[in-house]
Amino acid sequence: MPKVIVNDIEVDADPKDNCILAARKAGVEIPHYCWHEALSVVASCRMCLVEVGEKKPDGTVAMGPKLVPGCQTPIKEGTVIKTNTPKVKTSQQMTLELLLLNHPLDCSICDQAGECYLQDYTYKYGKAHSRLDEPKLQREDKYHIGEQIALFTDRCVMCTRCVRFTREVAGTAELQVVARGSHEEIDVFPETPCNNKLAGNVVDLCPVGALCSKDFLYKKRVWWLKHADGICTGCSTGCSVHIDQNEDKVYRLRPRENPLAQGHFMCDEGRFGFKYIHDERRILAPKVSKANAGAANGSSVASSTAFGGAGTQFADPWKDVLATTRSKIKEAIKTDARGFVAVLSPFMTVEEAYLLASYLKQLDARVRLVMGPVPMIGSDDMYPKGPKGEAPEAGKVKFTIRAEKCPNRLGVEAILRHFEGEVISVAQVAAKADATAWYFVGGYQHGWVTESIDRGVGSPSLLIVQDLFPSPLSERADIVLPSGSFAEREGTYVNHSGLAQAVHAAIRSPGDARADSRILMELTERTGLFHATTLRKEIGKAIRTLSALSAGDLGEHGVKMGVAAKEAVMA
Ligand code: SF4
Ligand code: SF4
Ligand code: FES
Repeated sequence: MPKVIVNDIEVDADPKDNCILAARKAGVEIPHYCWHEALSVVASCRMCLVEVGEKKPDGTVAMGPKLVPGCQTPIKEGTVIKTNTPKVKTSQQMTLELLLLNHPLDCSICDQAGECYLQDYTYKYGKAHSRLDEPKLQREDKYHIGEQIALFTDRCVMCTRCVRFTREVAGTAELQVVARGSHEEIDVFPETPCNNKLAGNVVDLCPVGALCSKDFLYKKRVWWLKHADGICTGCSTGCSVHIDQNEDKVYRLRPRENPLAQGHFMCDEGRFGFKYIHDERRILAPKVSKANAGAANGSSVASSTAFGGAGTQFADPWKDVLATTRSKIKEAIKTDARGFVAVLSPFMTVEEAYLLASYLKQLDARVRLVMGPVPMIGSDDMYPKGPKGEAPEAGKVKFTIRAEKCPNRLGVEAILRHFEGEVISVAQVAAKADATAWYFVGGYQHGWVTESIDRGVGSPSLLIVQDLFPSPLSERADIVLPSGSFAEREGTYVNHSGLAQAVHAAIRSPGDARADSRILMELTERTGLFHATTLRKEIGKAIRTLSALSAGDLGEHGVKMGVAAKEAVMA
């Protein structure tokens, strides 16, 4: 590890670090615009200029005569970096004054205000006055950049991060620099809007308020947003995301950098695909059919049309419903244990799957546990694309949108293998039509009850459905339990590569809906509140293939399963 001295602080750096990264290790910020860890280096903005020198073996330091761009300057043993000298400070002030020459001071109406590097750096490194006494250049806003992207042209600092992203990561190269000098602008090639499946990332990459998301534009000032660390459930890549919400409404998802999962970016399908969680069709209250009402304790019931049908809604909706559910499950298992089938969804967390599976198997080992439908669409979509839209060669893939459209098949399969010895699909059991009672867990974004499942379920003695949206099954279910979306869950998802990541709830469920973990804690009569870390430790100890969870805390980036465990889970 080369030793580097940053403002008199000695740190161990990585031989591949540039000055920006080495300084970060010493807790020193070198302001920068054009440099980004995942893109090529152009050293064009000059915001990162620093003094660099070398400490000789005799202890003397020889500083270079000129300022150098920290983004483009590699470090080595004995590199000395100075970021706080008068020379560096004057350069930073001059760079910011130049960048602001034609910049409109429209922070009050700019979507980026509050998370803008032009604001922040001007405050920290700039100076209060501009010497320009000419009118500023004014440029047209460009709403044609993409379906989801608008360009506020005169806010652009010409860092070209967006251009390099479309060339180097998406491979689609829609963006370019047009004109020259102070008339330079970002634009798209004629008739080629930036609509590739990764396009939304240019908004995150833009360090100022030039590229904005049309979806988020003027919806919420960013300082009102609270952030939770979540996982996108759009596919098995399992991108780490920030879920930004205010008053239980999610406004946007942003990628959360995770070198073990997806890297720096996310796809637009995941980014904009979260709206279903606020869909007004969501099931908002538990329901027990009239025939089953009061089964547990003869509680008094009131008629309800909350589900568009004759159902029963309790005054304390969950207490009695869960008591009834428990008693109906026990009755059905007593009558025909082998005929009782629980369908676990690949949208459940590991903890949720474990709670339900362990409870049912402990009631009677003959109960069958099966895998719910695993949604697949097309084939894996890899980036950067070649000139004709072809996939990159192996080893050059920078981002993959996976065909498997669920977050936790591997985690749920590990639970099934542990309790059942194998993974049987719901389709296999439905085809046999030998089940007499069903407990379905859904949680899918799109309809998942196929005709063959619907037919295979037939008219069982007990049908329990725990789900987000009404379906042909929930319409005729004996008991409906309204569950939570990905933004309402705590727990663990295991992605396509065996990376176990923690998800954290961002919002409360609407109406009387509840996160599955909470439903299952109460249903299975476990004491205390659901606590993912505690349950992870229990699961890690109980299930060998999930032993990576025994630490409880999975950290910011998650924990990779050991090779043996990963192979067992993926078998
Ligand atoms: S639009 Fe944003 S990302 Fe693109 S060059 Fe301008 S400032 Fe940079
Ligand atoms: S690649 Fe998959 S997990 Fe990542 S954002 Fe897209 S849909 Fe979500
Ligand atoms: S970040 Fe180094 S020159 Fe732009």
